[in-house]
Amino acid sequence: MENGKRAQWGSNFGFIMAAAGSAVGLGNLWKFPYLAGKNGGGVFVLVYLLIVLFIGFTIMLGEMAIGRSTQLSSYNAYQRISKKWAFVGGIGVIAGFVILSFYSVVGGWVLNYLYQTVIGGIPADTAAYFGSFISDPVAPIFWNMLFMAATALIVFKGIGGGIEKACKFMMPALFVILIIISIRAITLPGAAAGIAFYLTPDISKLTAGTVVAALGQVFFSLSLGMGCIITYGSYLGKEETLEKNSIIVPVLDTVVALLAGFAILPAVFAFGFEPGAGPGLMFITLPQVFDKMPFGWVFGILFFILVLFAALTSSISLLEVTVAYMQDHHKWGRTKAVVILSSFMFLIGIPASLSMGIWSGIMIFGYNIFDFLVFISDILLPLGGILMCIFIGYVWGIDKAVAEITNGGKIPFKLKAFWTIMIKYVAPIAVIIVFLNALGILKF
Ligand code: TRP
Repeated sequence: MENGKRAQWGSNFGFIMAAAGSAVGLGNLWKFPYLAGKNGGGVFVLVYLLIVLFIGFTIMLGEMAIGRSTQLSSYNAYQRISKKWAFVGGIGVIAGFVILSFYSVVGGWVLNYLYQTVIGGIPADTAAYFGSFISDPVAPIFWNMLFMAATALIVFKGIGGGIEKACKFMMPALFVILIIISIRAITLPGAAAGIAFYLTPDISKLTAGTVVAALGQVFFSLSLGMGCIITYGSYLGKEETLEKNSIIVPVLDTVVALLAGFAILPAVFAFGFEPGAGPGLMFITLPQVFDKMPFGWVFGILFFILVLFAALTSSISLLEVTVAYMQDHHKWGRTKAVVILSSFMFLIGIPASLSMGIWSGIMIFGYNIFDFLVFISDILLPLGGILMCIFIGYVWGIDKAVAEITNGGKIPFKLKAFWTIMIKYVAPIAVIIVFLNALGILKF
């Protein structure tokens, strides 16, 4: 609430940049290429695309409708429609808190890598460097603090003057840099093998594990299941066409994920590295790739600027979910909410960061602290998604949701039958499977 009146995006373009900014993040640039590398390349990409098309779009539209209809952030939005369901918004606020606590640890790593690339400080043995950096008790926490401070500063400036403005600058810049790097990567001698691996789906490599991994990734990558899009949607005016927005945002997110694969996998093949290197692909393999590439220094800097922009436009959306809750529900001012919440998240990030090093022996349910936070979010996101589908399909009601989407019938919503089936049946069932998998009840 700014000046007592709810803030709004300056334009629909601003909303799209902010929502795409939330979606495009470490999930796209770091996780998608390594998941594709690990799960058979093209076949993972194909499954991922299908899930975005059917389920990603469905849930995104549902979240936008709830947010815009109530003009409230997630907890209060659910509460406004049905008191009993407010807890679903509460799950989202907790998820935002947990995710940003570990997300900003990785954001701090990115800041450090950008800095080290600029000063030429990454040694040839990148694996040893990565291991010693993340296990250091001080340096990653320092970088995490800077990353969290940058996030807080943008959110502190509010919707139009902070989040929208930052995303309208960072997102187009990110696209340009990504296209430059992709062109560089696919024109490297020897890149063809990487492109083939990436684009040729080998159906024999399709496993249930691939599908579940892709579904979880769609959730995380599209920022679904925790009220992020509800919150951003609540700053939208009634005249905007939600179903268009809910197609554009996943398309942009997917284009970036695909381009990230083009930027990374061909280069990895060209220089003879392993595509299935896992989480180390970005921090261990890529610096070596840049080292071997002509003008690699420049491409390395550009690349980590790109990753930083992606991470920041996502982290601000996570912080905004919790800040908006404090504003809407507890009537806190923005400044107070930003300062207190970001400080707490930073504090939780400290043990998460230490769990890569001196606290690596501390285990919760068999996970170190960092992985435990990731595990919690892997459970909360699908849980939030399932409950949202049930909420729209059976509590709020399809008709009311459709009336919101079509603005009381003023805008045609041609996808209605498809969306109804997806949100009432297909999406919740698919997401229940992911949820049971995350809990270890069904194992793929
Ligand atoms: N989507 C972002 C990424 O791909 C991360 C993110 C931001 C997120 N907001 C979220 C994930 C909300 C889940 C829910 O990196």
